[in-house]
Amino acid sequence: MLIVTHCFTSCRSVFFGLIGLSVARLTTTLQTQRQVAMNVPMVTESDGWTVYLSREWEVLGPFPIHAREQHFLSPSFPLNLSEPIDLDRTWPSSYVDGGSVGWSKACAGKDGLIEVSYPAVRWASLRATEGWAALQHHSVLRSTLIVHPPSRSHSLSEPQLLVNLFQGSFFTILPSPDAVGEAVIPEWHAGNIYALGKAPPNALKLPHPPSLDSPTTYQIVVSGDYEIRLFGDPRSILGTEVPKLSVTLAVDVQDSASTVIRDESHDVVGDFVGGWAFGNAVGIGLRSLGSWWTVTGATVSTGISENLTVSLLEKQRIGPTQTRVIPVVLIQTSPVYLDELEIILRLESGDAESEVFVTIPLLHHPQWSADSVPAGGIKATFFYGTSMPSAFLVLPPEEPRNVPLPPILALHGAGVDIFHSDRFWIKALPRQQHSWLIAPAGRTEWGLDWHGSSTQDAWSAVEALCDILASREEWNRWSLAPKTKVLVMGHSNGGQGAWYVAARYPDRVVGVVPAAAYIKSQAYVPWVQSRSAHYVDPSLRAILDSSLTPDDNDLFLSNLAATPILAIHGGNDDNVPVWHTRALISTLKTWNPHANVTFREDSEERHWYPDVFKNDEVAAFVSSTLSGQDAGASIRTFTLTVAVPSDSGSLHGWSIYRLGIPGRLGRLTVNINPDGISVETSNIGAFSYRPESLPKDVKNAPFLVDGQRIELDEATWDQPNFSLALVQEKGVWTPHALFDVATTSLTGRISNLLSSTSPITIVVPNRLPSPESSAALRIAHNLNVYHKLDVGIIDADEADRAVRDGSLASGNLVVLSYGKLRGFAASLLSKSATPFGVDGTTLRLRSRSLTAPSTGVLFLHPHPTNPEALALVIYGTDVSGLERALRLFPIRTGVTVPDWIVVGSQADARGTGGVQSAGVWGNDWSWNEAMSAF
Ligand SMILES: *[C@@H]1O[C@H](CO)[C@@H](O)[C@H](O)[C@H]1NC(C)=O
Ligand SMILES: *[C@@H]1O[C@H](CO)[C@@H](O)[C@H](O)[C@H]1NC(C)=O
Ligand SMILES: *[C@@H]1O[C@H](CO)[C@@H](O)[C@H](O)[C@H]1NC(C)=O
Repeated sequence: MLIVTHCFTSCRSVFFGLIGLSVARLTTTLQTQRQVAMNVPMVTESDGWTVYLSREWEVLGPFPIHAREQHFLSPSFPLNLSEPIDLDRTWPSSYVDGGSVGWSKACAGKDGLIEVSYPAVRWASLRATEGWAALQHHSVLRSTLIVHPPSRSHSLSEPQLLVNLFQGSFFTILPSPDAVGEAVIPEWHAGNIYALGKAPPNALKLPHPPSLDSPTTYQIVVSGDYEIRLFGDPRSILGTEVPKLSVTLAVDVQDSASTVIRDESHDVVGDFVGGWAFGNAVGIGLRSLGSWWTVTGATVSTGISENLTVSLLEKQRIGPTQTRVIPVVLIQTSPVYLDELEIILRLESGDAESEVFVTIPLLHHPQWSADSVPAGGIKATFFYGTSMPSAFLVLPPEEPRNVPLPPILALHGAGVDIFHSDRFWIKALPRQQHSWLIAPAGRTEWGLDWHGSSTQDAWSAVEALCDILASREEWNRWSLAPKTKVLVMGHSNGGQGAWYVAARYPDRVVGVVPAAAYIKSQAYVPWVQSRSAHYVDPSLRAILDSSLTPDDNDLFLSNLAATPILAIHGGNDDNVPVWHTRALISTLKTWNPHANVTFREDSEERHWYPDVFKNDEVAAFVSSTLSGQDAGASIRTFTLTVAVPSDSGSLHGWSIYRLGIPGRLGRLTVNINPDGISVETSNIGAFSYRPESLPKDVKNAPFLVDGQRIELDEATWDQPNFSLALVQEKGVWTPHALFDVATTSLTGRISNLLSSTSPITIVVPNRLPSPESSAALRIAHNLNVYHKLDVGIIDADEADRAVRDGSLASGNLVVLSYGKLRGFAASLLSKSATPFGVDGTTLRLRSRSLTAPSTGVLFLHPHPTNPEALALVIYGTDVSGLERALRLFPIRTGVTVPDWIVVGSQADARGTGGVQSAGVWGNDWSWNEAMSAF
């Protein structure tokens, strides 16, 4: 307690923020939800556990870092938390005068806000040469927690801590510095660095149980990373040269009760139009506080069941501390005008049963018409990835049309929750005469920057609207064409997303209106202050960086050389500098000097302005593009660029199915003229084209691929929807039927795991508390916070059985393991489906055994039962290695992890300089010598 008293004296006002929440409040929450529990220990009125968080923080920094480097470095860099912390020591830092820094202090506000800045650093001088890269920096923050036992001890279960860390990257709880004992291995939890809404708290066990009769002290350590993308330019935000890190920490404690509580923020329900639900998906947010629960059924309360029923889409198991969105299907037989929907969910946990009564408010709109439409649009729902209840907004056109026009797909900026802030996003978009306007959520406010799962969310919203409109006769005449093309529009991150989506799926896009877009993350804030770069072999770095190639929008502009584009940027944008759009246009015009691209530089404007899309130029461009002819038909020369075939659509009917060397870009240049069709390939293994989409005058003309004449059967030309594949074997191209090559490889980078066709399944050795279970729950938590991607957790025996009887879930799989390989992980690897294998109980890569302490390994592996899904093995040679591997799970864009990686303890101080080997798989999971560092 002495140390703590010292803290009291240094913080001026209130010494401790009392953030303890007694269990009493939880009880009230439960009662309002009318939870009826049978045989379940209900949380009772008690004084409960209380936690005090000191408001005084010790701070060490600033250290140069580039965005996302903290996933490789130790979050506590430069400290090794397995050793005592020396508060008198100094550490080298190139940002500070004299080149070394020591500890300083910060005091948290009552609201938990901790502000850290280093005014003594000459930021303006660093910035003069390094630009925004010089403002990126890392700090370690450390403070004290005290956990008090209940005063009347009838609740003696071990409590769990609930932590909300906004805008910090990681935190960990350690024993008190005075506690003698073994060296600790910190368990790092990801903070909510983007301050995303709807984020459940991190729920964790304390590193050792607190005393039941006296207060117990712990330390909390936070990794604080200043990123321009999070905090902006201090010059324009704060009017100063000094960047200020602002993180907010709230800590709470609760009994690990065996209860399920509601999380209403996770509910999903669509609006009703003329008494009918706009989408039949309903989601109910539930969180288990401390045990495993299975949701077994759903019904509506009696009374309304006559015209509206519900059914549970599938049984769902909720892990301790896990939050899931329970998928419920609405079945309606006639119009319903209820103010709220009452649903009863049935749950089981072992022998215990429970029911949760849920009330969800409903919003009704009359049928839309030319002059009546809800200003904030209509909220529609669907099941993303087969069972994840999800929503998006739409604005109907003024008039229906016999032949539907393409809709506008409008991608929001980073941090924008389209359903909140008075729905400003959809209100900023121009309603169309004949086209729908679709605003997808992109999973969350940031999602994956409109790549991967967020792109999938956008296309799924388009398909969902098509299905909803087809589902009712009244809506049929407003329908969309199946697999409709779209006009993509977007602002900021969404402007970047518009370039991304259009260039990856060029045949599905009629035009693009990207506003205030950045090119790619490495161009937004350059990496010159990378710590790793001082250690890593540039050839290894190239392999790691290949995992960002699919995101590099500039590299794919060949695909947009014939697409109508109106690019917009405020000339005074202090958030995304205007040169990004100018550079994209310059690159595009190098591919095609006559590209149909217009640049609108609104010279006086900054990042956002209300008429960015509501102006005459956008109106004219949009109406002419939506009603115009497909420009593609007349295009005679073009280049298709592809990095990951499974994430790429066709260009003028041409598709790349397989690369020569995965990990490198593939390009296909097609020249069509009356004398023949000539194709030049670069790094292509297989491609296809639709003869139908060729101009008529070249029907019987010679067909050359890399100078080789291909003889074709003329009968194939006129078959509708026919695609011909060409495959290269040993330098010779041969025609094939499409189905021979149509299974595209899903590999290329570990973040492909996030593009799952249904919820992700995580396999742990067993469901008892263990390092693997903790890791699984942390992954599930992060996937929920960052992507609203659903996770089911199963144990190894269940996984074995499911593989045998063919019932393993079809979505992507994560297998967690450390130390000796046994059980499911070992049997998966024993098939040697990749160059990783198992020798006895040791993990082996080719002929090298991986045994060094604190080594973390991640690799993609074929899914055991579904050829169209992936498995990811996350392995540590010990607990510390598992922790290291876990931090590389690609929860955010920009973490450079290709298909496989082995990383050791040197990474703590050297970032990617501590990567021992890494690579991209070859085709069919083969060894890819060219793209491996081994
Ligand atoms: C159910 O629908 C029928 C027919 O539209 C209607 O008459 C009845 O009032 C509805 N029942 C309820 C409970 O809304
Ligand atoms: C360029 O695109 C606009 C908008 O779609 C269209 O109106 C115009 O005709 C196109 N110009 C050319 C030369 O294709
Ligand atoms: C951190 O300290 C522990 C205990 O002294 C030591 O075993 C470990 O190797 C250190 N880690 C690194 C990366 O130096």
